[in-house]
Amino acid sequence: MIAIGSDHGGFALKQEVMEHLKKRGLDYKDFGTYSEASCDYPVYGRAVAKAVATGECEKGIIICGTGIGISISANKVPGIRAALCGDCFSAKATREHNDANILALGARVTGPGLALMIVDTFLDTPFSGDERHVRRISLIEE
Ligand code: RB5
Repeated sequence: MIAIGSDHGGFALKQEVMEHLKKRGLDYKDFGTYSEASCDYPVYGRAVAKAVATGECEKGIIICGTGIGISISANKVPGIRAALCGDCFSAKATREHNDANILALGARVTGPGLALMIVDTFLDTPFSGDERHVRRISLIEE
């Protein structure tokens, strides 16, 4: 199960990402926002982060205008490694090296075609499990 959430700036892209996940046959849970009305990104970043941190969902996707505010918010939740990606190289590397459990996207920065490729790369790339990466991740955690 993939947790997904956005503020108003990411709402339209969230709809496209959910449609894409559906086409791929992947289950997701939408934590809002549910319209383009102005709202506060920390609410949605935290909701998705908590769903991932508690194990309710395996991974998360969060979207705001830049991807910055919502990723900062998600990263305040213990156990969360949210990575803001605007390219496929970063999406692959953050899964392999950081075992990132949330992907953040900036809807006003990254076009929908590239965003969907980044989503696929993030979801389809496993953590390398290399000892040096495990060690570094353990140094990040609280
Ligand atoms: C909302 O206008 C905008 O500030 C938000 O989507 C995001 O970019 C914040 O980091």
